[in-house]
Amino acid sequence: MASYPPEPFRIKVIEKIRQISPSKRKLALQGTGYNVFGLRSDEVYIDLLTDSGTGAMSDHQWAAIMEGDESYAGARSFYHLQEVIKDIFGFHYFVPAHQGRAAENILCSLLVQPGDSIPSNMHFDTTQANILARGGRPVDLAIDEASDPTNHHPFKGNLDPIKLEHFIQDTGPEKIPFGMVTITNNSGGGQPVSLENLRQVSRIYHQYAIPFFIDACRYAENAYFIKIREPGCADKSTQQIARDMFALVDGATMSAKKDALVNIGGFLAMNDEDLYHRACNELILREGFPTYGGLAGRDLDAIAVGLREGLNETYLAYRIGQTAYLAERLMEHGIPIIEPAGGHAIYIDASSFLPHIPRDQFPGQSLAVEFYLEGGIRAVELGSVAFAHTDPKTGEMVYPPLELVRLAIPRRTYTQAHLDYVIDVASRILDRRDSIPGYRFTYASELLRHFTARFEPVS
Ligand code: F0G
Repeated sequence: MASYPPEPFRIKVIEKIRQISPSKRKLALQGTGYNVFGLRSDEVYIDLLTDSGTGAMSDHQWAAIMEGDESYAGARSFYHLQEVIKDIFGFHYFVPAHQGRAAENILCSLLVQPGDSIPSNMHFDTTQANILARGGRPVDLAIDEASDPTNHHPFKGNLDPIKLEHFIQDTGPEKIPFGMVTITNNSGGGQPVSLENLRQVSRIYHQYAIPFFIDACRYAENAYFIKIREPGCADKSTQQIARDMFALVDGATMSAKKDALVNIGGFLAMNDEDLYHRACNELILREGFPTYGGLAGRDLDAIAVGLREGLNETYLAYRIGQTAYLAERLMEHGIPIIEPAGGHAIYIDASSFLPHIPRDQFPGQSLAVEFYLEGGIRAVELGSVAFAHTDPKTGEMVYPPLELVRLAIPRRTYTQAHLDYVIDVASRILDRRDSIPGYRFTYASELLRHFTARFEPVS
């Protein structure tokens, strides 16, 4: 039986949660058009909607918050963060931003022209939408193993170098203002990317003079996977691995709400001085002065401390072990998930869980609804509701490879008993799966529709 790693911390502050009755849950969900994003958090018992900004900060981070310098320009907090970013990532320049998508917006506004293409292993939904919003084309080139839920490739997040080279030659490097890789690959199961793959991809992008940016939200979890899975890396520290990864690239977008263990924040980092100056101008227009970038000084301090805590190997062993525990116990109960477990979440293969529901009736949406109705658990669909989009070049509908439901695990927040409850609820849903309906849209916006869409069950 799977074992649970004891938490390397004890609890100093608690937040009350409560469970509302099944009939109240049903009413609440109907009121949102069956979209769990519309629920009030008080209507949710265990909130696994996201691991983004939902973790618990440490005593050291709260102490750093008290030391935040709220000066408009040149705050101490900025220089504190600058020192940590330089140390971990090694980039020459960075601008803070209020979260990851703001960094993506600035990067895309500076570099993407209509008709351009941006390749990646897989873009996250906000990156995809920021590229589309500038008339660009997001292109996913993950290795084929990424779309096979039970394939145990140790680095299923890898970008396929052969696909990349063909893509660059077919598209023309002049139509590719930058290339990306997302670590870990959130849209494909939180799967890591190997150092070897980053080296290959860096070589290819640079051979064609294409700047290479990493989407670094979960870089620390990725570094830990490299340490435990990649030959020759066991003796390196996660800090050294992070340096090795970022030495291969020209810049990064970062949502600090993940591996920097804070509730808000992000940054855009780069080595190119000209790009940095242009980013500062864009930042002043949209986010704020370059030494605070849409955040309070105290937020910058919390990020600086959180970045170091997020790379701590005792913490990472617990973090990855907790996710693996949930994965193994779900599999013991016959729940089909993406294997092996990724870093920050479990991804249930909704098409296998609900084989009677066709893709155009969104099996992932159905399963997310049932997690809430059965147990007050909030999960998120990451399948065709979130990712299917029309290709601006061909006009055809592009479907994601898998219909997934993600159970994201907030950092340092839930205990083993909470996870055991989740496992119980999942197996109760499995027992009655044949009676679960599909869904259709009654409202959907053009971009990022999953946040605000409304649905009705298909009878
Ligand atoms: N890139 C990746 C890989 C992400 O997972 C996210 C956010 C972002 C960029 C955008 O960052 O939210 O700070 O603007 N992911 C969250 C999630 C929302 O639930 O996976 P943001």
